[in-house]
Amino acid sequence: MNGARHGSGHRPAQRVPRPFRRRPRRHDRGGRRGRRPPARLYRALADGPATPEELASRTSTLPRYVAEWLRGQAAGGYVEYDAATGAFSLTDEQAFALTDPEGPLYVPGAFVLALGTLRAESQITDAFRTGAGMGWHEQHDDVPVGCEMFFRPGYLANLVPSWIPALDGAAAKLNAGAAVADVGCGLGASTVLLAQAYPRSRFVGSDYHGTSVELARKRAAEAGVEDRATFEVASAQDFPGSGYDLVTTFDCLHDMGDPAAAARHVREALAPDGTWMIVEPYAGDAVADNLNPVGRVFYNFSTYLCVPNALSQPGGSALGAQAGEAAIREVVTAAGFTRFRRAAETPFNLVFEARP
Ligand SMILES: C[S@@+](CC[C@H](N)C(=O)[O-])C[C@H]1O[C@@H](n2cnc3c(N)ncnc32)[C@H](O)[C@@H]1O
Repeated sequence: MNGARHGSGHRPAQRVPRPFRRRPRRHDRGGRRGRRPPARLYRALADGPATPEELASRTSTLPRYVAEWLRGQAAGGYVEYDAATGAFSLTDEQAFALTDPEGPLYVPGAFVLALGTLRAESQITDAFRTGAGMGWHEQHDDVPVGCEMFFRPGYLANLVPSWIPALDGAAAKLNAGAAVADVGCGLGASTVLLAQAYPRSRFVGSDYHGTSVELARKRAAEAGVEDRATFEVASAQDFPGSGYDLVTTFDCLHDMGDPAAAARHVREALAPDGTWMIVEPYAGDAVADNLNPVGRVFYNFSTYLCVPNALSQPGGSALGAQAGEAAIREVVTAAGFTRFRRAAETPFNLVFEARP
């Protein structure tokens, strides 16, 4: 991680209450999922309508700051305001989206990711002129952590309940005891969820980014699955092992500079009747299909994260986060897979099954 970009900014005076003091910049702040100040404010507001003073009291924060924050949130439609009482509140829908890092959707994760992503503005501005890439490992610490916060709720809601059952025979193998490689695993959110659900199986997560791998090991230990979920630093083109029953790639194939080489390596590493589960952002094949709120999010993260990462790697490819099914199919079938189908989808993800 590039520590040089982390320490700027005005340092608040001592009167600032404890929850708003800057914590030391540590890459594992994501271990405190949902405990950052705005997340705490949303959660405290979910306890019931509150004036700024009441919410400040609930959260040990300063009413003047809380008042301004609440007004901005209300103007943005994230919280409700009752002019008659001066109280702010959350609707059920707002609470659903903003307050539960263990729920199926956690929008503050997107905020962490977006703010972390924007730290690269000057590098990406230069890259527009020079064509340089910018690897995932060069992004701000909050990028991998925010990515975990943003994506994990979707995996929690869908991976075990619906995506694995949508794959032909995979659930039965996992229940019986399968060998699984989770490639480009990041902080291991998917690896850990699978290891929790299928205790007879063995999971090897890998990612080229060493710091993410360290955190993935920590996540597995925290979840008590380190006996069956281990992690290696390796690229998708050379991750270790063979004879896997299942190889998974979650939201990373399109990030790679050489997805074709990754696909060939997955093909070699799979057992003859194995399955490659490819989870990608939801996208249509044509640009016009993606000019909607989902495309707005993913194209813009892609400009800052996915395309620069791919361009930083050998291979010459940069699929981008809105690649779509046709582009993924082409990569997969060119690597020798004979079967490819869309097995599941959500508004945010496409899930493909590829078989040798
Ligand atoms: C958007 S993140 C997804 C992480 C994780 N799979 C998840 O869903 O939370 C993309 C990941 O791909 C990894 N990555 C990028 N290029 C890679 C490559 N060539 N080989 C292995 N991992 C790669 C990055 O380090 C990052 O962890």
